[in-house]
Amino acid sequence: MPKVTFKPAGQSFEVAAGTTVLVAAIQNGLQLRHDCTEAICGTDRVKILSGKEHLSEKNENEELTLEMMNAAPDERLACVARIVGDVRGTMAAPVAILAKPDDHRGILSMAEAVDAMIDAFRNWAKDPLLAELRRRTHTPKNVRITLHQGAAPAYGTTGIMAHAELVRIFGDKQKYPRRGRPVLVLYDSDTAALKLILVGEMHPKELPDANSVVAMPTACASMVGTDLLARKNCRVAGVFGAGDQAKLHLLALTCIRKSIDKVRVFSPTRATREKFAAEMSVVLGIEVVAAESAAEVIDGADVIVCATNSNVPVFDGDWLVPGQHVTSIVSSNIGLKKRGHVIQMRREIDERTLERADILMTNVWGQEELDKTAVFWEASLDRPNIARKIVDAGEVIRGEKNARTDASQITYFKNCAFWGIGAAAIGGLIYEKLLQQRRGLVLDFNPHEFYDDEWTED
Ligand code: FES
Repeated sequence: MPKVTFKPAGQSFEVAAGTTVLVAAIQNGLQLRHDCTEAICGTDRVKILSGKEHLSEKNENEELTLEMMNAAPDERLACVARIVGDVRGTMAAPVAILAKPDDHRGILSMAEAVDAMIDAFRNWAKDPLLAELRRRTHTPKNVRITLHQGAAPAYGTTGIMAHAELVRIFGDKQKYPRRGRPVLVLYDSDTAALKLILVGEMHPKELPDANSVVAMPTACASMVGTDLLARKNCRVAGVFGAGDQAKLHLLALTCIRKSIDKVRVFSPTRATREKFAAEMSVVLGIEVVAAESAAEVIDGADVIVCATNSNVPVFDGDWLVPGQHVTSIVSSNIGLKKRGHVIQMRREIDERTLERADILMTNVWGQEELDKTAVFWEASLDRPNIARKIVDAGEVIRGEKNARTDASQITYFKNCAFWGIGAAAIGGLIYEKLLQQRRGLVLDFNPHEFYDDEWTED
């Protein structure tokens, strides 16, 4: 029987003579997008490395489509090219997709995204070279661009996410009156082929219209430390913040702690927190109530999540009791400080929380140093009692430092926004779903800028 080998994965299969390249690929579990199967759309273009004489002649449709696509002589359309002898096919990477905001809105559940983020962190802990620290630039008019860079080979991706906001300070709040569309650019982690250009915020299936600054990857990254530190049997959650960032955090929290059956939320505006409570009760199917005060959120909570736009602490650390866990997201505004727009670094958490917690965790210490954060970088300067309690997620995942060891400990995780690895992993899942659901625009050019056919592994 003829044998076909697909590169770059390298799998070889025997197929019945006359089988199309597309059917051979699908029968053997390989992804190859095919929109028409009539040699019209061109989505299944493959490059034939050798044995092209063992493929059937091109029919009229294939000739025409390949010509319109400016295809090279060694490229064929898998849906109509039939195998009659040994042949090797390059899956052409396999395709690069441009996904506009509505192409990917709600395509993943929050549980899928959280799992991918946690998995990406585990892989990064074993191989720290997979990630780079988050970088920011501020223009004189305070447009801030942020880059999250990382690789997730387990998801077939490596790439970068960029987002830009016009930043303004209103009293104690940091706001973004203009936000550009975020863009995630992913390449194949094995072949360097362009894979995905994803435009717009990621939105989970459960809250497809929630819209806050990179809220989905942020919420997922917040769960990395929360999962490591919060007690497993949490039942009551406290939430600070009632915007979409807080909604996605609560949704993500219920993915990792399914035992949660009661939530109290507080934000300064009554109408906003009541709206949050009404909406999230329906989304989660559990009791979510608006608290009358910050203290009421802390009282009786097993796990507390702060997902606000505050630049000052949102509760008093003296209210915490043994066993509680706190996660927060406000980390650094060093660019605004250097530009003279604020005089002190922002923080959501007070000194007493840092003093009282038994374990203080960040995603990675290098990010704290780079951003000169108030929590934890400034707070640990000349204060060994704080410094000695700080661990990073990589150290804990590798078993070099302890997570929670006792149900009575108070623990705290600050998500310092180092999560490029997770964006690459989540993007890899989105890419697969786009392929399966035939959503997004397949780019009609080779995802490789350059491809050396003579190169071999040895
Ligand atoms: S699937 Fe459309 S050209 Fe083959």
